[in-house]
Amino acid sequence: MNATNTRYALRAGILLLLLPLGFSCGETPPGGTTPGPEPEPEVELPPPLDPLPPVHLTTTDRFATSSQCGQCHFAGPETTVMHDAAGNDISPVYLWRSSMMGFAARDPYYLAVFGEELVAHSGREAFVEKTCTRCHAPAGSEEQAQAGGHLTFDALVAGDGKEAHLARDGVTCTLCHQIADDGLGKTQSFGGGFVIGYEREIYGPHLVPKVDPMQLIVNYTPTASAHITKSEVCATCHTVLVPIMKGDQRVGDFLEQAPYLEWKNSTFAAGVPCATCHLPTQDGAKVDISSPIAKFPEGLGARTPYGQHRFSGGNAYMLRILADNVEWTGAGVAPEELEQSAARAEAHVAEGAVVKILSASMQGSALAVEVQVENHAGHKFPTGYPSRRAWIHLRAEGAGGEVLFESGAFDATGALVDRKGARLDRSDSVLPHHDVVTKESDVQVYEAIAKDATGAPTHRPLASVGFVKDNRLLPLGWSSADPWIDWIGPVGVAGDGTFQPGFDRVTYAIEGGAAVRRVTVELLYQSVRPTELDTLARVPHPAAVRFSGMASARPSIPLVAAQALIEL
Ligand code: HEC
Ligand code: HEC
Ligand code: HEC
Ligand code: HEC
Ligand code: HEC
Repeated sequence: MNATNTRYALRAGILLLLLPLGFSCGETPPGGTTPGPEPEPEVELPPPLDPLPPVHLTTTDRFATSSQCGQCHFAGPETTVMHDAAGNDISPVYLWRSSMMGFAARDPYYLAVFGEELVAHSGREAFVEKTCTRCHAPAGSEEQAQAGGHLTFDALVAGDGKEAHLARDGVTCTLCHQIADDGLGKTQSFGGGFVIGYEREIYGPHLVPKVDPMQLIVNYTPTASAHITKSEVCATCHTVLVPIMKGDQRVGDFLEQAPYLEWKNSTFAAGVPCATCHLPTQDGAKVDISSPIAKFPEGLGARTPYGQHRFSGGNAYMLRILADNVEWTGAGVAPEELEQSAARAEAHVAEGAVVKILSASMQGSALAVEVQVENHAGHKFPTGYPSRRAWIHLRAEGAGGEVLFESGAFDATGALVDRKGARLDRSDSVLPHHDVVTKESDVQVYEAIAKDATGAPTHRPLASVGFVKDNRLLPLGWSSADPWIDWIGPVGVAGDGTFQPGFDRVTYAIEGGAAVRRVTVELLYQSVRPTELDTLARVPHPAAVRFSGMASARPSIPLVAAQALIEL
C-alpha cells in the first residue's frame, strides 16, 4: 500500500460510520442510485487516486509486455512497412496502444466503478477484485491466479510486481494471441473463461510464419492457427457474465454484455466475424491491405489479409478523457494518438446506423413524421457496456427557422432536457420505449438499463440481476427462436410491431404541425449517461473521485451517429 491508499483506508473507516444504514453490508448502492426529492446527504470524499505507474518492461513464463513486440511489430516513421497507401501507420502496436483494449486496465471509468463495488462490498473485496480484473487486466490476473491468490485493486493501481506491470498492459498482445482453441464458444469460455497454454506459441492467421526472429528475441514461436480470427476468441471477454450474490452465495449470473451472442443471432454469424469490422483488412479505399507484418528482419514478404488492430468501438468519450489525462494514465501514449483513435471511434459508430424520414404528412390536425432508424452493426446498437445509449433528436421548424417541436435535446452536461431546459434524465426512473411520440418530453432512447434485486434501476454490475429495459436496435437476421433469447431478448418493446430485426420505426405526431417547413432528425450516441457521472461523484473511493474530476472537465456530450432532413 502506498501513502495515499493508507490514508484512504483510514478515512474510509470513518466514512462508513457516517453513511446511511445498510451501506457496509453491500446491499444498498453507495451514494444511492435512487435519489428521491430530498437533497442528498453530504458525503466526505477521499483524495483522488494517484497517477498510475509508468509502463515497465516485464517478462514471465507466459507473458511479455507489448513494448517487446513493438521491437518488430511497431512501424513508426523510420520504416515504410506496415503503412497503408495513404501513409498511415497501421502496425499492430501503434494502433492497439491507443485503443480501449490497450487501456482496459488504465481506464479511469472502469477503476471508478471497480472502486464503487469495493465500497459496496466492504469485507468481500477479494470477490470483487477477482471478478473485475479477469478481463480488464487479464495477463496480470492470470499470473496472480497461477501463483495462488488474486490481483488486488491496490496492486493494479500501484503495485510493482510483475503481475501488476502485466495487469496494467490491459488486453495485451501475448494474452490475446495465446488464447488456446479450448472450449471456445462454449458457455464455460464466457465471463473471462479463456485458456492460456504454456507452450509459448503465439497464434496468428498466416501459414508458415518465419519463426526464428521471434524465438531468438522474445522466445515465442509464431504459430499459424485459424482459430485466432474467430469471434469465439472475442466472446471469452465480450460475453460478460458476472455472479449474482446473496451474501456469500452465488445465486445466479447476470449477463451484462453480449455482443457475441447478439452477433450469433444475426446474419453476420454466417461469415462476418468480429475481426472483419474491428480489425479491418481493407484500407479507406476498400482495397485489401498487403504488407510485411514485421519490420525486422528486413525484406520479409508481404502478407494478405492484414488486419488493422484498431478495435474501434464507440467510446470516443473515454479516449478523449484519456487524451486529456495522458500523464495520469502512465501509458506513455501521446494525446494526438488518442485523439486519432477517438476520431476513428466516431467514424466507426457512424458506420453502424442510418436514419431515414420515410414520410411527413398531415393526418387530421397533426403532422405525422415517420422515422426509421436502422442498425448496420454486427450486434445490437448500441452494444457493450450498459452505460451506452442512443436516442432520436427530432426538430421541426417553421418558415422562419423557429422551433415548433423538439424531442431529444440535451444540455451542456449531455443530459436529456425538454425545450425549457428541464432535465428529463433521472437515475431512478426509466424513460419508456415509444412507437408513437406525441409530446416533446417523450424521447425515444435505445438503451439497456439494469435493475437490482428490488427492481430499481442500477448501473452497478454487481448489484444487477437483469434488465428493466432493453430496446437497443436488433441486428439484421435476429430470431426470437434463438437458444439464448431469454438472456438477450428485448425488454419493454411489447406491442410495437415496427420494432424489427435491423430497424425501428417511430411516428412523431406533431399537433398543429401545419406550419412545419423543415424536420431534422439525428441519432445521437452517448458512451456514459450523465446520471451515472452524478452518482459516481458521490462515491467515497479515490478512483471515483479521480474519474469524477476528469469527467467534470469534459462533459459527456453525445456524438451524431446518423442524420436526415426533410423540407416540406
Ligand atoms: C525480432 C522481431 C520480432 C519480435 C520481437 C516479435 N515478432 Fe512477431 N513476428 C516476427 C516475424 C519475423 C514474424 C513472421 C513474419 C512472416 O513470416 O511473415 C512474426 C509473426 C508474428 C505473428 C503472426 C503469426 C502467424 O502465423 O500469423 C504474430 C501474431 C506475432 N508475430 C506476434 C508477436 C508478439 C505478440 C510479439 C511480442 C511478444 C512478437 N510478435 C514479437 C518478428 C517479431
Ligand atoms: C467477462 C469480462 C469482464 C468482466 C468480468 C468485467 N468487465 Fe468491465 N468490461 C468488459 C468489456 C469487454 C468492456 C467493454 C465494453 C464496451 O466498450 O462496450 C467493459 C467495460 C467496462 C466499463 C466501461 C468502460 C468505459 O470506458 O466506458 C466499466 C465501467 C467496467 N467495465 C467496469 C467493470 C467492473 C467494475 C467489473 C467488476 C464488477 C468488470 N467491469 C468486470 C469486460 C469485463
Ligand atoms: C483481441 C485480441 C488481439 C490483441 C489484443 C492483439 N491481437 Fe494481433 N491479431 C488478432 C487477430 C484476430 C489477428 C488476425 C487479423 C486478420 O488478419 O484477420 C491478429 C493478427 C496479428 C498479426 C499478424 C498480422 C495480421 O494482421 O494478419 C500480428 C503480427 C499481430 N496480430 C501482432 C499483435 C501485437 C504485437 C499485439 C499487441 C500490440 C496484438 N497483435 C494484439 C488479435 C489480437
Ligand atoms: C481478454 C479479454 C478480451 C478479449 C479476448 C477481447 N477483448 Fe475487447 N475488450 C476487453 C475489455 C476489458 C475492453 C474494455 C476496455 C475498457 O473500456 O475499459 C474491451 C474493449 C473492446 C472494444 C472497444 C470498445 C469501445 O469501448 O470503444 C472493442 C471494439 C473490442 N474490445 C473488440 C474486441 C474484439 C473484436 C475481440 C476479438 C478479436 C476482442 N475485443 C477480444 C477485453 C477483451
Ligand atoms: C458488421 C460490422 C460489425 C461486426 C461483425 C461486429 N461489430 Fe462490434 N461494432 C460495430 C459497430 C458499427 C459498433 C458501434 C455501434 C455499437 O455500439 O453497436 C460496434 C461496437 C462494438 C462494441 C462496443 C463499443 C462501445 O463503445 O461500447 C463492442 C464491445 C463490439 N462492437 C464488439 C464486437 C464483437 C465482440 C463482435 C463479434 C462477436 C462484433 N463487435 C462484431 C460493428 C461490428
